[in-house]
Amino acid sequence: MVLGAIGLALALSACQPVPDDATLAELAAARGRRIGTAVEPSHVANPDTAAFIADEFSIVTAENVMKFGPIHPERDRYDFAPADAIVDAAVANGQQVRGHALVWHRQNPTWLDEAWTRDEAIAVLEDHITTVVTRYRERVVQWDVVNEAIDDTGAMRDTFWLRTIGPDYVALAFEFARAADPDVALYYNDYLIERAGPKADRVAQLVDDLIAAGVPIDGVGYQMHVLVPELMPSANALRHEFERYATRGLRVAITEMDVAHILPSTPEKFAAQADAYDNAIMACLAVPACDTIVFWGWSDADSWIDAEFPGFGNALLFDRSGEPKIAYERIRGVLWWNLQPPAA
Ligand code: G3I
Repeated sequence: MVLGAIGLALALSACQPVPDDATLAELAAARGRRIGTAVEPSHVANPDTAAFIADEFSIVTAENVMKFGPIHPERDRYDFAPADAIVDAAVANGQQVRGHALVWHRQNPTWLDEAWTRDEAIAVLEDHITTVVTRYRERVVQWDVVNEAIDDTGAMRDTFWLRTIGPDYVALAFEFARAADPDVALYYNDYLIERAGPKADRVAQLVDDLIAAGVPIDGVGYQMHVLVPELMPSANALRHEFERYATRGLRVAITEMDVAHILPSTPEKFAAQADAYDNAIMACLAVPACDTIVFWGWSDADSWIDAEFPGFGNALLFDRSGEPKIAYERIRGVLWWNLQPPAA
């Protein structure tokens, strides 16, 4: 049998060191995956940062500017310019875009009104989703339609949309998104579902209910905000979690990965961090439905964790001076050598 160029490259990679100049995007593409980062408009406005993002990654997620409050600050006014800057840069660089997030309980505008009737709230939700999804049609390839609808106990989270519309706001959001773009992939996205437990089970139940009702859901996003060494499943355990949805015919994405530890950092904590990234990439490579891996930023100097969890951090692939960490090299290695977790 004649090996094609990619087949030959894959065969050779079994014994060759990772090429020095291979980017994450190139290594992931050879495994049929897209790999990316969260970005802000300030990143794409800075030529050096923009060039780095364009080179290293094949997909980007808007970290904040597509959320309801930032993009729809007044009832009759949308602010698309910041999101446009990210999408325009990505398209110009041949990158894909994940849209994040149409419905969430945080970063909502103050004009959402608890006194609305259910029908009024549904009309606002429909207008918002239709307007935003339509604007980015054919440019955003995946949308996080509903983010974090289940709380840490496994109950439906008490949110504005639950209180005004009721639990079917989730199904309605997916239906409005599908009506606005028949081709974009629609995701339910959440944290702490990489670990078996009541939250992971309740999210699976929610997804099953959506599928049974014929709601147009295409995938599940695992945020994967991980803390080491306490909170990181093995590659095998993670693979089983991903397979929950693969066996339901859905796609799987790692959507916001970072791996924090309690500061100060030590070589041992950075080693545990590299193991955690390694486990996640291995598990994703073992499940064909897992086709997307996104980190929640790239530089330890620029992460949400510093503000929200002081005392924790240094969770990303590059240190505060911009130097690659061992986690970065481990990810390149696991993509190149395509290591798989053993079958259970
Ligand atoms: O843009 C405003 C600015 O105008 C204002 O002056 C300033 C004052 O505080 O705030 C700025 O907004 C901040 C925004 O980030 C942009 O920097 C918000 O205060 C701040 O709360 C917001 O934090 C974001 C957080 O979501 C909000 O919940 C983080 O950057 C973002 O990384 C984080 O991302 C979430 C995902 O969307 C969902 N999964 C969890 C993840 C981490 O919390």
